[in-house]
Amino acid sequence: MKAVVATDQTAEAAGIALVDRPEPTPAINDVVVEVRASGFVPAEWEWPSTWADRSGGARTQAIIGHELAGVVSSLGYGTTGLSLGQRVFGITDWHRDGTLAEYVAVEARNLAPLPGDVDFTVGASLPIAGLTAWQGLFQHGRLQAGQSVLAHGAAGAVGSVVTQLAREFGAYVIGTGRAADRQAALDFGANEFIDLGNEDLADIGGVDLVFDVIGGDVQKRSAGIIRPGGSLVSVVGPVEARPVDGRAVDFVVESVPSQLTEIVERVRDGRLRTHIGTVATLDDAIPALNPAERRKGKTVIRVRG
Ligand SMILES: NC(=O)c1ccc[n+]([C@@H]2O[C@H](COP(=O)([O-])OP(=O)(O)OC[C@H]3O[C@@H](n4cnc5c(N)ncnc54)[C@H](OP(=O)(O)O)[C@@H]3O)[C@@H](O)[C@H]2O)c1
Repeated sequence: MKAVVATDQTAEAAGIALVDRPEPTPAINDVVVEVRASGFVPAEWEWPSTWADRSGGARTQAIIGHELAGVVSSLGYGTTGLSLGQRVFGITDWHRDGTLAEYVAVEARNLAPLPGDVDFTVGASLPIAGLTAWQGLFQHGRLQAGQSVLAHGAAGAVGSVVTQLAREFGAYVIGTGRAADRQAALDFGANEFIDLGNEDLADIGGVDLVFDVIGGDVQKRSAGIIRPGGSLVSVVGPVEARPVDGRAVDFVVESVPSQLTEIVERVRDGRLRTHIGTVATLDDAIPALNPAERRKGKTVIRVRG
């Protein structure tokens, strides 16, 4: 089968190649999915799991991409809950070969049914951004209706879902990003927008929850405006800055089928709009994953037509 592998950690996005690989076989409680579409998070080159296995040993030429929509093509020993030919979507284990391939072996517990009226491209764009937003706001951030949320990168893949879910839940949302992102963030439902390059976060006054997808200095400045009892939730590595009187949480998203179902239902009924940027075929995946221009939204690779 064709697959995109990581070849060179120092080359970042350039260190990938389209190669031939044997098709995977399903282990206990796995399914193999015929991948129809795969989402991609650009920072994947920086994730330790791309380069090391669970024991810390080196991984070489791991297949990248960890979110998918596709069709179950075989079942492992003992697998229940999914059937051959079923449409599914979800996140695959970070340390196993990923979804930028024609087939992937994945634990059945990581997948949810993909409704028949949801396109595979849409399905593949949802798992990482949708679940990260959901878990960050509701599990780790303990968001309450009526609170205020600072949604960093509000025009990006994760931030656009954070903005929409927080608004739906009854929060007041201040989106951030680059100057060019203002209209997109407002269109996703942000009540206001802060251009991080030209405006000062301190002018906001205070917020109850910061959803950080940027880190560094932006995270430090954001921690300083969290109200007593509020939360800083970060998805870009161990938190470096803590609110004076509040919680700081960093986490890595997990595949939770019941939450995937909540998310896809919102897409079906129009409450949630997914932010898809580039869509390319597997044969054109290398240039699509190395864009010459600034990325907008989620890159999705159509693995099969
Ligand atoms: N821990 C987890 O489970 C988890 C899950 C999902 C994502 N993540 C991480 O979260 C981050 C965001 O992911 P994503 O898929 O949402 O990426 P994305 O689509 O590129 O969105 C990030 C947005 O933030 C903007 N941004 C970044 N730095 C900025 C700055 N200094 N000033 C203003 N705007 C800035 C980006 O603009 P530019 O494109 O112009 O930089 C982009 O619009 C990535 O680092 C990813 O690895 C972690």
